[in-house]
Amino acid sequence: MTVSGHGARHVAIIMDGNGRWAKKRMLPRVAGHKAGVEAVRTIVRAAGELGLEAMTLYAFSSENWKRPEEEVNDLMGLMKRFILSDLDEFAANDVKLKVIGNWRALAPDVVALIDNALERTSGNKRTTLAVALNYGAQDELVRAANAAAANGKISAETIEANLDTADMPPLDLLIRTSGEVRLSNFLLWQSAYAELYFTDTLWPDFTPADLKAALDQFARRDRRYGGL
Ligand code: FPP
Repeated sequence: MTVSGHGARHVAIIMDGNGRWAKKRMLPRVAGHKAGVEAVRTIVRAAGELGLEAMTLYAFSSENWKRPEEEVNDLMGLMKRFILSDLDEFAANDVKLKVIGNWRALAPDVVALIDNALERTSGNKRTTLAVALNYGAQDELVRAANAAAANGKISAETIEANLDTADMPPLDLLIRTSGEVRLSNFLLWQSAYAELYFTDTLWPDFTPADLKAALDQFARRDRRYGGL
């Protein structure tokens, strides 16, 4: 276990506000998503430096298919380029890639790319970067409950053991950027006792200092897990 001053092991982020970031600059939405990828890069690096064992990022929800086809294609293209161009950086920073959600239902070229990246980073140890792709928490829970039932018993333990995040540390802190205050079908089970942190900062503007501020606030919170 990593020992760090803030005490958090696993942070998740709903990276919201790319579209508004672009609009403010009179740029197309894709420019906001590109800037969002830059923020991902910087924050993943910072996560390692801040001693986090795991970070989960909401990159594409099972509801994002409702967006215009052009934007869906832009997002998939950016994801592919990110995985391809950052594989070396993952190796250099000891980052193990993980993908959660129904990603095997994505286009075959994306699935092949992910399979390769998972394999290439599987020996890395410092930080696990879980990217949620075609992810919805209700879908994850239905899959987990079915898997638990297939093995005989549905209980909190057997559901948890079949979640996409089963091999990750418990979620400590969930951050959402851009001023929206909802969970949008992200890590619903895992958030049961997570601390929630909302900031008005748009995702492309979110810096390592902002992550540090969230962790500082986390360190000051009194987590009681239902006790006194
Ligand atoms: C929300 O902004 C953001 C998304 C739906 C996509 C997040 C994707 C990235 C940051 C890029 C790819 C990710 C990785 C891991 C490489 P929005 O479009 O809903 O913004 P708006 O609410 O301001 O319109």
